[in-house]
Amino acid sequence: MATRRRSIAAALASSSFFFLLLSAGLSHGQLQVGFYSQSCPNAEAIVASVVRQAGASNPTLLPALIRLQFHDCFVRGCDGSVLIKGGNNKAEVDNNKHQGLRGLDVIDGAKAQLEAQCPGVVSCADIVVLAARDAVAFTGGPSFDVPTGRRDSKVSNLRDADSLPDVKDGIDVLRSKFAANGLSEKDLVLLSAAHTVGTTACFFIQDRLYNFPLPGGAVGSDPTIPPGFLSELKARCAPGDFNTRLSLDRGSEGVFDTSIFRNIRNGFAVIGSDAALYNATSTVDVVDSYSGLLSTFFGPYFRQDFADAMVRMGSIGVITGKNNNGEVRKVCSKFN
Ligand code: HEM
Repeated sequence: MATRRRSIAAALASSSFFFLLLSAGLSHGQLQVGFYSQSCPNAEAIVASVVRQAGASNPTLLPALIRLQFHDCFVRGCDGSVLIKGGNNKAEVDNNKHQGLRGLDVIDGAKAQLEAQCPGVVSCADIVVLAARDAVAFTGGPSFDVPTGRRDSKVSNLRDADSLPDVKDGIDVLRSKFAANGLSEKDLVLLSAAHTVGTTACFFIQDRLYNFPLPGGAVGSDPTIPPGFLSELKARCAPGDFNTRLSLDRGSEGVFDTSIFRNIRNGFAVIGSDAALYNATSTVDVVDSYSGLLSTFFGPYFRQDFADAMVRMGSIGVITGKNNNGEVRKVCSKFN
């Protein structure tokens, strides 16, 4: 009898341990879906409405908001550090790695509305992640829950952004920069596929077209670009043209779909880091797995996997709970 009681107790203990593990997994550390459901019940609806309005007046802001989450989360974690402005070009956002970053004023606009309704409650770091989630859905991508409960950092350093991935990084560097943030090479491929929407400035491909290092110390064009595509790119981006913008997903710019994988597979990646995904067997396999038209029906399922990867990226280095390191900013571009 005693043995039976002990085994029941052991079973209960192990099942509650299992439950604890499960709930820890579901709540992503101390983040949780619906964190503001009591403290600011309209928080997510307010962000969604601001993003919807911004996208209606300027659709290019939607991809910009998706990119903004990447740039916030990869520097010091998802803590709103990229939103801080001012300070004689010493803020993180002034780093060249953030070149062309837009959508910060959309976050400021959402924050102003949230402060009017629930002062001091919703963090800027959470607004960035919610806005990116909504932007994905409004460009035709998946709709998904994101856990919230992040606090904002009290730090923004120019040099912290040096570690951001770069268009010139090779596949090994890209992999290690993602690994440093707890993300796998599958995440690298999935998240780079956010380039299914949006554009790049010619600035980012100038070197790929005209100044690419070749054997023997020469420079020229990246030899992996098929000749016809190279002429096309050169016609769009003349030497020294930094500002013209072109689709990152050739032929499918406005649509959230898997064509970016086929473009990468067929040599039509526009920026170097996307092309690099086809330079290592492990990432080639991931690109190929999502490229086939049949994967839409039989998996792997890009939309679901992309959403999961966004949630994982949104969990990088978060400040949560009673941790004194963070605050909830009143204005996203300024420390309290
Ligand atoms: C793997 C490393 C990555 C590199 C080197 C990279 C680089 C770039 C570059 C150079 C641009 C063009 C920026 C401009 O001219 O305005 C861009 C745009 C974009 N990136 Fe990435 N990116 C990377 C990963 C990501 C990730 C992880 C996401 C989000 C999940 C993302 C989302 C976007 C989006 C949506 C755009 C279009 C922005 C717009 O149209 O304004 N990127 N990226």
